[in-house]
Amino acid sequence: MTPDSQQLPTGTRVAIIMDGNGRWAQRRGVPITEGHREGGEALHRTTVAALDLGVSELTVYGFSTENFCRDPEEVAGIMSLFMELVEREAPIMVERDARMCFMGRRELLGDEIRERMRWAEELTAGGSSMTLCIAFGYGGRAEVVDAVRAAALEPGGVDAIDEEAIRRHLYRPELGDPDVIVRTAGEQRTSNFLIWQGAYSELVFSDTLWPDFGEGDLREVLREYAGRERRFGGRAETPPAVTS
Ligand code: FPP
Repeated sequence: MTPDSQQLPTGTRVAIIMDGNGRWAQRRGVPITEGHREGGEALHRTTVAALDLGVSELTVYGFSTENFCRDPEEVAGIMSLFMELVEREAPIMVERDARMCFMGRRELLGDEIRERMRWAEELTAGGSSMTLCIAFGYGGRAEVVDAVRAAALEPGGVDAIDEEAIRRHLYRPELGDPDVIVRTAGEQRTSNFLIWQGAYSELVFSDTLWPDFGEGDLREVLREYAGRERRFGGRAETPPAVTS
């Protein structure tokens, strides 16, 4: 272990908005799908780095509900890259005792993709070193709507809905809130990503285009996060008690 990595926090929940594939491709004069392909390589590098650096949960924004509005050829390219990526990464996750899961509206996706997701989740279900969660067909507002609808069907109906009831019905209630949300490629907004879970997350913006992102950038994120003082609206470094 290098002296540098000894100073980095472990057990951190990191979420990443992987932005900049299009600009990366445009700057090289190559088709956008090449940018997404390199984005897939960056996701592999970053996942391995996260495992090596002791990150506990890595949640990435792979495809938003809004991304369906893009050119059909680009959408089809991302879908097939996603299938390849899941097939390639799941066995690596098993080797590293890690788990892979997904969040989003699966009904918006094709049967083959849903089947691939189910396969990867089952294959990696026993992993305990880290969880890689890929938000795919995901929108934060859609997630809250889906959670509220599900909570309203519980005994007590709408009168019994409180923060805890909504949390229980998020797509991945077993995951914690991200400690830090990163966005690459210089944009400074969260674009409908983890809007419930990210209420108290630290935000880190990186100028690196996602296809160029890797271990050094992740180290930089963790270093920056380690220097932040978290108060959760109060004075202590612990989350506030749940209110209704
Ligand atoms: C944002 O870049 C990226 C996406 C919309 C897709 C994310 C896809 C990958 C990282 C590739 C492989 C991984 C999965 C999970 C499919 P952009 O195209 O919006 O970039 P721009 O803002 O520069 O145009």
